[in-house]
Amino acid sequence: MNKILYATVLTSVFLIEMLTASNALAEPPKAFEGRKVFNTSCFLCHGVDGKGHGPLSEKLAVPAIDLTDNSRLSKKTDRDLFRIIQGTAPHGLVSKDMPQWGLSIPEPQIKTLIAYVRFLHRSRYPLIGDPEDGQVIYQRSCSVCHGKWGEGDGPLTKVMSMTPADHTNVTEMNKISNKKLVAIIAYGSTGKTPMPGWEGILSKSQIEAVTSYIRLLTVH
Ligand code: HEC
Ligand code: HEC
Repeated sequence: MNKILYATVLTSVFLIEMLTASNALAEPPKAFEGRKVFNTSCFLCHGVDGKGHGPLSEKLAVPAIDLTDNSRLSKKTDRDLFRIIQGTAPHGLVSKDMPQWGLSIPEPQIKTLIAYVRFLHRSRYPLIGDPEDGQVIYQRSCSVCHGKWGEGDGPLTKVMSMTPADHTNVTEMNKISNKKLVAIIAYGSTGKTPMPGWEGILSKSQIEAVTSYIRLLTVH
């Protein structure tokens, strides 16, 4: 009897430790949060895809910048971007149409916008589904192995042998096209590794949604 009690206590301590260990690192994906702000405050000029063709762009004297232009945006530091968006530094360019967002958007949100701008110019692949639906699916069905924030350190990795990729590593994730991501999620891994196939459990649009959420994990 005592032995069983001892084993139960030990197991619960182990479980609690496992859960708190993975939660201790918890930090919501900034690019995911930044996308929400972008889609209310920035898309009008820069476009939902960030390429500079939003509905208001035709009315501007100078076109809004293409934020997916990696050769241009990679030259800017986070501090440069912060000051440009906040409006405390001039763009050093020609137009005053880019608003001074520091007046209405608080600093923590400007930081999430920087992460989203980084996603726009660093990711080789665009979003193909709704990442907000994708987040719910990822947390429910994938994080037990892939980790709460996609770092490949979910609770099951401590009891089953597996090495999922770090979904927050942009260089690694840029090697996998959207088509390939969709196929891995739909059919699972080919070898003996435990990545299950989700076809029949998740619809095509749910698989696309979770693919997009994974893309937004690539920047913190
Ligand atoms: C009313 C139109 C408009 C809106 C809305 C707008 N922008 Fe801009 N943005 C511009 C224009 C125009 C430029 C180019 C300014 C120039 O060339 O002098 C620009 C430039 C930028 C740049 C500089 C890029 C570079 O490489 O120089 C960044 C970053 C940027 N915008 C981010 C944002 C973000 C983030 C938001 C939303 C919070 C936003 N913009 C909303 C019009 C807009
Ligand atoms: C039982 C654990 C487990 C679950 C649950 C799981 N995965 Fe995986 N997943 C893995 C493992 C292990 C790999 C690595 C496969 C390999 O190395 O061949 C993997 C691979 C992947 C990959 C390829 C890149 C990588 O991480 O190696 C993607 C994308 C992926 N999974 C997405 C998902 C999605 C989306 C879900 C939820 C709908 C999910 N996985 C659920 C274990 C899991």
